[in-house]
Amino acid sequence: TERTFSILKPDATKRNLTGAVNAVIEKAGLRIVGQRRIQMSKAQAEKFYEVHNARPFFGELVEFMTSGPVVVQVLEGENAIAKYREVMGATNPAQAAEGTIRKTFSESVGENTVHGSDSAENAKLEIAQFFQDADIAG
Ligand code: GTP
Ligand code: MG
Repeated sequence: TERTFSILKPDATKRNLTGAVNAVIEKAGLRIVGQRRIQMSKAQAEKFYEVHNARPFFGELVEFMTSGPVVVQVLEGENAIAKYREVMGATNPAQAAEGTIRKTFSESVGENTVHGSDSAENAKLEIAQFFQDADIAG
């Protein structure tokens, strides 16, 4: 079993869709073993998306991620990292497969509802950025 890090982004909280997204996550067999609703600071968002800091959309991305509350989560399951990426769908919702979270709920590539770690190394780092061990119960 494996753990991945997830964020329900501000477009999800704004539209009151956190339960609907969680239902898709749980239906896919992923267990939500840690969950917290927070307002990200600019510094936190900049650190989290550091790898994208040279991209033209970086400013917009940080602005969006701090525009409202987010739900940070630890998801657990068999091949959780790859499985969640599959359930999320393509970064651009217009290219996302039918039944994925982004195809179902997202309105643009910027406001694409969810984040999921893209590797085991990043999952570990990202979980550690937002969770203490005592706040995860598998
Ligand atoms: P994350 O799980 O959020 O990391 O998404 P991803 O791995 O599918 O995409 P990637 O890591 O390449 O990009 C990170 C995030 O930057 C995306 O989820 C989008 O929110 C945002 N992003 C990517 N491309 C664009 C773009 O062209 N414009 C804007 N505004 N945002 C973008
Ligand atoms: Mg990414």
